[in-house]
Amino acid sequence: MISIRRYQDADWPLIHPFLHATFAAGDTYAYAPHSSEAQIRHAWIESPAATYVACTSDGRVLGTYYIKANQPGLGAHVCNCGYVVAQEAQGQGVASAMCEHSQREAVAMGFLAMQFNLVVATNERAVRLWKRLGFAVVGTLPGAYRHQKLGLTDALVMYKALPA
Ligand SMILES: CC(C)(COP(=O)(O)OP(=O)(O)OC[C@H]1O[C@@H](n2cnc3c(N)ncnc32)[C@H](O)[C@@H]1OP(=O)(O)O)[C@@H](O)C(=O)NCCC(=O)NCCS
Repeated sequence: MISIRRYQDADWPLIHPFLHATFAAGDTYAYAPHSSEAQIRHAWIESPAATYVACTSDGRVLGTYYIKANQPGLGAHVCNCGYVVAQEAQGQGVASAMCEHSQREAVAMGFLAMQFNLVVATNERAVRLWKRLGFAVVGTLPGAYRHQKLGLTDALVMYKALPA
């Protein structure tokens, strides 16, 4: 049974290893593969409006997501989220649960839509998952992602209007 709650400072040593591993792989997020711990913390904890963790009933942290406005001012009614699941917990519905949760949180915060700016086209699991949860591919950015194994790779912009 997965529960999702707000991030607390004590979670950092639990989520930093899999955030670091994800960024270091250089195949899903744009954050520099050699990001320092402080840079990762800034990206995931300090810069977003809110960060959450997905846990088991015995307190193991399996994944995390953030939510923030995608643009300032006149674009601030559209939010952006990022999701990472620990390698050993993937394929069990953790990201599905976090994405459903984030949509409810986004509505509660007053956001009208959710946008993913840079879904790497080769990240098939993510693309399939977001489509299943109602996100549409609204554009393809040719070669916009510098994949660390594949080189310049297309990235998708995905978008979903949220219920009022
Ligand atoms: C992409 C990522 C977030 C997916 O996380 P995940 O927890 O493995 O995703 P889920 O388990 O919810 O869904 C993956 C698959 O498991 C299946 N699944 C297995 N058990 C499930 C369950 N109990 N409930 C729901 N889905 C389940 C889903 O149907 C889905 O199948 P699909 O690939 O055919 O769509 C994860 O692989 C990750 O962290 N990758 C690195 C970072 C990343 O790419 N982030 C997204 C950037 S856009």
